[in-house]
Amino acid sequence: MELSTSFDGLADDWDERAGEYGDERGDSTASALINALSPVQGKAIYDLGCGNGALARRLVRAGALSVIASDISPRLIKLASARDTTAIQYMNRRATDFTRISSSSVDAVVLHRAAFYIEHFGRIVDGARRVLTSGGSLVFDVHHPLLPAARKVAGRTVAYGESLDDLNRIWASYSQPHSTRVTGTDSRGNAYSYACLKRPLQYYVNACLSRGMRLRRLIEVEGSRATTIPTAIVLSMENSVRTGLRPPG
Ligand SMILES: C[S@@+](CC[C@H](N)C(=O)[O-])C[C@H]1O[C@@H](n2cnc3c(N)ncnc32)[C@H](O)[C@@H]1O
Repeated sequence: MELSTSFDGLADDWDERAGEYGDERGDSTASALINALSPVQGKAIYDLGCGNGALARRLVRAGALSVIASDISPRLIKLASARDTTAIQYMNRRATDFTRISSSSVDAVVLHRAAFYIEHFGRIVDGARRVLTSGGSLVFDVHHPLLPAARKVAGRTVAYGESLDDLNRIWASYSQPHSTRVTGTDSRGNAYSYACLKRPLQYYVNACLSRGMRLRRLIEVEGSRATTIPTAIVLSMENSVRTGLRPPG
């Protein structure tokens, strides 16, 4: 059975917080991600785990030729669609579902603050390899290993659902992939709960490299508030050209 990672339970709250172009918390990663796509102008982009479409709208504003955006949460897709009428094509589906996206039709596949909710990340890479043009990009961010330290310094008590009382305990399990559960009550009093996958950086890099992608760029992103400790890593992967076997001689 798949882990339940959808933000459907806090969709209205999330939409309000993210607003038209995203909240301050995600601003520095979104900017780094857009920078890694540069130039955005003229590109066909597929945004996975799009939430209320905040990044998708930024991409349209930055001159993207076309943007498809999908999310597992039906409520978030409804809210996203209500914000835009024409520019973005929204789909309610799992990020690993690439059906009805033509092969070699997309210049970039992006995930903003979403990769660590995808249980079978290798399927994203397989899907991206098929739908991307050759030389196209898969760009996504993951938690920086220093994120718990950054949150602690900023006076927070929890990171990805785990108590920050004992940082050593959090780091001791760094290299062992596992899931945590984030629970809470939104501003409307609705309880929410979703799983977060904790995996080391090598998991993501190797998932891409072992499927024939190349690492183009790695950017360590500082948090937007309170501290300069990096909180995210943006990875830009290149869909390298498939080369056949060289003829003998
Ligand atoms: C932290 S939010 C980020 C939303 C958006 N990318 C942004 O930056 O504003 C994570 C999003 O991933 C979605 N999500 C979680 N698991 C997913 C999955 N397996 N497939 C597609 N979307 C998923 C959630 O519903 C949520 O909207």
